[in-house]
Amino acid sequence: MPLKYPNLNATKIERPKPRASDQEAGITCASCHLTPDGKVRGPYGSDAPHATVKDESIKTSVACAFCHSEGERVVGKQTQTFLEWREDFYQAGLGTEQCQDCHMPRTTRKLAENFDVPERVSGRHLWTGGHSFQRISSALTLAIVQTEEWKRPLEFHVTNVGAGHSVPTGSNRRAVYLTAEIVDSKGQVVATKDWMFAPWYGDRPDDRAFLEADKIHEHVFAATQADMQGPHETIIRAGEQRVLGWTPEITEGRYTVRARLIYDLNRYNDREFKEDQREIAYGELELVVASRKTNSR
Ligand code: HEC
Ligand code: HEC
Ligand code: HEC
Repeated sequence: MPLKYPNLNATKIERPKPRASDQEAGITCASCHLTPDGKVRGPYGSDAPHATVKDESIKTSVACAFCHSEGERVVGKQTQTFLEWREDFYQAGLGTEQCQDCHMPRTTRKLAENFDVPERVSGRHLWTGGHSFQRISSALTLAIVQTEEWKRPLEFHVTNVGAGHSVPTGSNRRAVYLTAEIVDSKGQVVATKDWMFAPWYGDRPDDRAFLEADKIHEHVFAATQADMQGPHETIIRAGEQRVLGWTPEITEGRYTVRARLIYDLNRYNDREFKEDQREIAYGELELVVASRKTNSR
């Protein structure tokens, strides 16, 4: 259905009106380009066989708001992308990029015509997201820190440097895992640990305590599968550096710490199913655990 763009500062983003159930569903050109008065909007306002209207706000985040946010902002919840961008990124002063600047990279090209017209600058209709390795691997950085020399406590710093919103954003199915392992000098893995960052399904953290209440939830299946996984790390907000501490149970010696960030398109299928997982960052640290400095290095 045609959409009127919301106000940039609207507190609540309404759900877009779907077409009648017997009509074609899904996203088409009209979903983004058709105005409520039946014209086709674009940044240029070209001559075309249909009525066109020049609307520069199509180059801004309001053009994406309706379908990429729902309701009012709840930090940590799923489907908040536009509100995350507005509050944590744009208004916070982290950047001025709009959704299109990252997700519809502009190139010089002919637009939709296949006859002879001058080339113009326009955003490519790619929408690189969770299925784009290039996009997801630009989101986070990972650093490993031994907080005190010769001692066991470690810190993992996961920083959102590349997304204009939380990571992972959007559907509660998405997850990022941080896995860490300690390898001894013989190459044996002697300790492991992992964390999961994911959007909450609802207005509160996912929690097994709600499994009984979920039986009468409006969406029983979706609410149950989220709560079944139980508590996890919240999504990493734009510009946030998340610090995760771990003190592995290891004796004195020389080790290598290896850490990985893995993006998973669907956290509800088996963790062993790797087809929808991609490693997006890797880090290593040489670790020496000793009671005195003199016998090491
Ligand atoms: C998800 C939203 C979305 C969908 C779906 C979409 N577009 Fe676009 N389109 C945009 C945005 C946003 C821009 C402006 C890009 C920019 O910032 O440069 C644009 C720009 C254009 C332009 C340049 C407009 C001008 O004024 O010259 C053309 C032509 C175009 N789209 C055609 C299409 C066609 C044809 C389809 C369907 C096959 C389509 N679009 C589907 C969002 C969309
Ligand atoms: C009319 C609704 C609608 C509008 C408007 C819209 N989107 Fe989407 N977008 C969707 C839906 C629905 C999906 C999920 C498609 C799927 O999972 O099959 C999606 C998916 C995406 C994805 C993820 C693709 C992937 O890899 O899974 C990106 C990135 C994205 N949109 C960006 C944008 C940007 C940027 C804009 C504004 C220019 C925009 N969208 C406007 C409905 C919309
Ligand atoms: C500074 C660059 C940047 C800006 C601005 C930005 N994004 Fe993203 N976006 C990313 C990165 C990096 C990812 C991959 C990490 C993730 O999924 O959170 C991503 C992922 C996504 C996804 C993929 C979710 C999925 O499940 O596949 C959607 C949808 C999306 N962005 C929509 C938007 C919308 C809508 C806006 C504007 C309100 C926006 N983005 C602004 C960089 C950006």
